[in-house]
Amino acid sequence: MSEFENLVRQIHDCRKCSLSEKRTNAVPGEGSPTADIMFIGEGPGFNEDRDGRPFVGRSGRFLDEMLAAIGLRRPDVYITNVVKCRPPNNRDPLPGEIEACHPYLDAQIEMIAPKVVVMLGKYSFNQFFPGESIGRARGKPRSWNGVTAYPMYHPAAALHNPRLRPVIEDDFRNLLRLIEKPEPGPEKIDEAPAEQLSFF
Ligand code: URA
Ligand code: SF4
Repeated sequence: MSEFENLVRQIHDCRKCSLSEKRTNAVPGEGSPTADIMFIGEGPGFNEDRDGRPFVGRSGRFLDEMLAAIGLRRPDVYITNVVKCRPPNNRDPLPGEIEACHPYLDAQIEMIAPKVVVMLGKYSFNQFFPGESIGRARGKPRSWNGVTAYPMYHPAAALHNPRLRPVIEDDFRNLLRLIEKPEPGPEKIDEAPAEQLSFF
């Protein structure tokens, strides 16, 4: 079993905090273990707890739509949450629960080693940058532990407030730029086959 699979199994079996008592399924995350982009939400809700998969409800459908708009699918990225088990009635996780769960998130970031970590919403963002406003920070890449951190509004925010939708769409388009390969330099153009150049 790979180190990554072992981590996923550990999360499934975890009993380090009391969120394990009421969960149906732990939700470790989903996607490519070598993804360039990693999304971090808050925690599983009703649907996620039932299915053992992140972002499968309405927020998830919106996230899928935003991914598709920039030509990506779930298997191209990695999607997880700050806490891996659903807090009862979707209450905010308690500080002790976050502390118990954080080593899993740290290990995921280290093993996947993404180029960009997208912090979805105030809750996720403030785990890494306490006290800052998501409204001000969103859409602006910054450095975090050698990784590019990219705060965005949570997809659920756009479901409550449709005016945020174009903001999220913009942030997604710019996200792609953060991982795009640089344009080929002049050497590459010189090497282009002659027939391609004579076309002009
Ligand atoms: N909202 C989240 O933050 N995470 C999920 O997995 C689903 C909804
Ligand atoms: Fe373990 Fe995290 Fe679930 Fe708590 S929330 S039981 S620490 S996996």
